[in-house]
Formats: sequence, structure tokens, C-alpha cells
Amino acid sequence: MEYITLNNGNRCPAVGIGTFMLSPADAERSVREALRMGYSLVDTANAYVNERAVGRGMKASGLAREEIYLSTKLWPSEYENPKAVDETLARLGVDYVDLLYIHQPAGNWLAGYRQLEQAYRAGKARAIGISNFEGRYIAELEGLWEIAPQFIQAEAHPYFTQTELRKTLDRCGIKLMSWYPLGHGDKTLIREPVFAALGKKYGKTPAQVILRWHTQMGFAVIPGSRNPEHIRDNLDILDFTLTEAEMAEIAKLDRGERYYHRSDAQLAQFAAWQPDFEKN
Ligand SMILES: NC(=O)c1ccc[n+]([C@@H]2O[C@H](COP(=O)([O-])OP(=O)(O)OC[C@H]3O[C@@H](n4cnc5c(N)ncnc54)[C@H](OP(=O)(O)O)[C@@H]3O)[C@@H](O)[C@H]2O)c1
Repeated sequence: MEYITLNNGNRCPAVGIGTFMLSPADAERSVREALRMGYSLVDTANAYVNERAVGRGMKASGLAREEIYLSTKLWPSEYENPKAVDETLARLGVDYVDLLYIHQPAGNWLAGYRQLEQAYRAGKARAIGISNFEGRYIAELEGLWEIAPQFIQAEAHPYFTQTELRKTLDRCGIKLMSWYPLGHGDKTLIREPVFAALGKKYGKTPAQVILRWHTQMGFAVIPGSRNPEHIRDNLDILDFTLTEAEMAEIAKLDRGERYYHRSDAQLAQFAAWQPDFEKN
């Protein structure tokens, strides 16, 4: 495994598994199998309504708690709930998480960030992060944080490399964890000829080449998958290195184009939505 060193001295595995849109049954199975295959980073969220299942998958894997790097996110409905962190830990069945994000710059997000800082000081979160806080949101938070975040989670892939955001991240020592690393499975991205050509050269699939590009960009990467073959492939990306010229070739794909466009109206909806948490 390769690791990313964070601004608090901790390390995070460069490759992990995401669980967005996975049902509890799929999340439990994917997490268990991924951990048995050698993964150590697992990403979930209050909003994915699969934290209990992720916790079960972790236990069923047979790995010790300290062998797993667990990341989750508080949803805006929880930002003003003083028990939000403890309830999240209880759902996951752990007494700390390795990384705790606030998921959206919606609702009282400063209260949410204060909860992260409190959890960090109490040892309940070993690193903290902001998710989807691009542009004016990270600029506003920068003047308010008492503890700088270690991570931001944001959309990133070869079509959209977060050029602007990365200037702030570099200045503040914040690392990027890419979501939609494979364009949410978009065939157009995966079928770009450059990935087929490089895959042929290195004996890898196009998706593996894309994921290796992320790690060489310095991003942590958490592709989601229900498919055991893909889960295995997505970890098997660290035994080759793209050359500088190949990285430059991939850089030509950057169109500054996101897949996901979030409006202010959506942020208001996010603030009003309450996840229907799994009961058991
Ligand atoms: N913070 C946020 O707001 C936010 C938003 C979105 C996502 N995320 C996080 O980021 C993670 C990744 O995002 P995502 O899962 O939406 O998108 P993604 O990883 O870019 O793409 C997932 C899709 O790619 C396919 N896929 C996976 N591995 C593949 C491979 N080796 N070859 C070909 N296809 C492959 C999957 O299908 P199969 O199931 O068939 O493999 C699935 O359809 C999420 O799970 C979540 O943890 C965070």
C-alpha cells in the first residue's frame, strides 16, 4: 500500500473502497471482501444509510480495528445534534473513526465543523475533513477553523482535476480524496483511447490506469463497486508508474467539466433532509 501523509502527521492509505449508493447488504459484502483482499481504507457517510452494515463488514473481515482506516461523514441534519458523533460511532460499532467529514456546506455547517474539531480533540476522530466545500465555502471556513482539516473530498477525475481548488489545498496542506474517480462509471471516460493504450503497455485495465493517475496526482481514491473483480482490480494499481509524459498526456483530457452540478436549491434540500438511519 502507498500512504498519504497528512498535515497532522497521520497517514492515510492512498486507495480505498467507497460505499455510496450501496444497499446495506451490498455494503456489508463489499467491505468484508475488500478488507479480506487487502484494502484498509473504507469510506461511508451518515447519508449512505449503510454505516451499520459497514461496521458488520469490518467485523466479518477478521481484521483488527487498527488495521482499518475508516472514514465517514456527518450529514447536515446532524450538525446541531450534540450526540451526532457518538451516534455515528455507535452505528459503525467503533469508538473512533480515522477520518470524519462534514458532508455538505449546507445548514449550520459551522456547527458541524465545530463538532469535528471537538471529536478530534476528544480522540473520536483522528483526522477531520470537509466534503464539497469548494470555492467560497472553503474560503469562508478558512477564516473560522481552529483546527485545519486534513482532507477535502470533492469530485475529481481526468475530465475535472480541481485545478483552482488545489491552489488552496496546497497552501493549507489539505489533501484531496477524489469522489467519482471513475466518472461514476461513465463509459466515455473509461473508453478514452489514452487509457486503453496505457493499459496495454502496463497490462492493466483502463480503470486501473485512471486510478493510478489519481494516486500519482497525490489524491486518495475511493472507487465504488459491487463487482468483486472490479474491487480486486481497483486495489491492484500500485505495481506500475505512469511516466511524466504519460501524466501530461492524460492532463490533456481536463475539460474543467464536472458530472455533478450542485445548485443552491439542492443545498437547501440537503439541509432539510434527514437520513432514515438503519435501526439495526
Ligand atoms: N462526498 C461526496 O459528496 C461523495 C459523492 C459521491 C461519491 N462519494 C464517495 O466516492 C466514492 C466513489 O464514487 P462513485 O462510487 O459514485 O463513483 P466511481 O467510483 O467513479 O464509479 C463507480 C462506478 O464505476 C464502476 N466501476 C468500479 N470499478 C470499476 C472498474 N475497475 N472497471 C470498470 N468499472 C468500474 C462501478 O460499477 P461496478 O459496481 O459494476 O464495479 C460503478 O458503476 C463513493 O462510493 C463514495 O464513497 C462521495
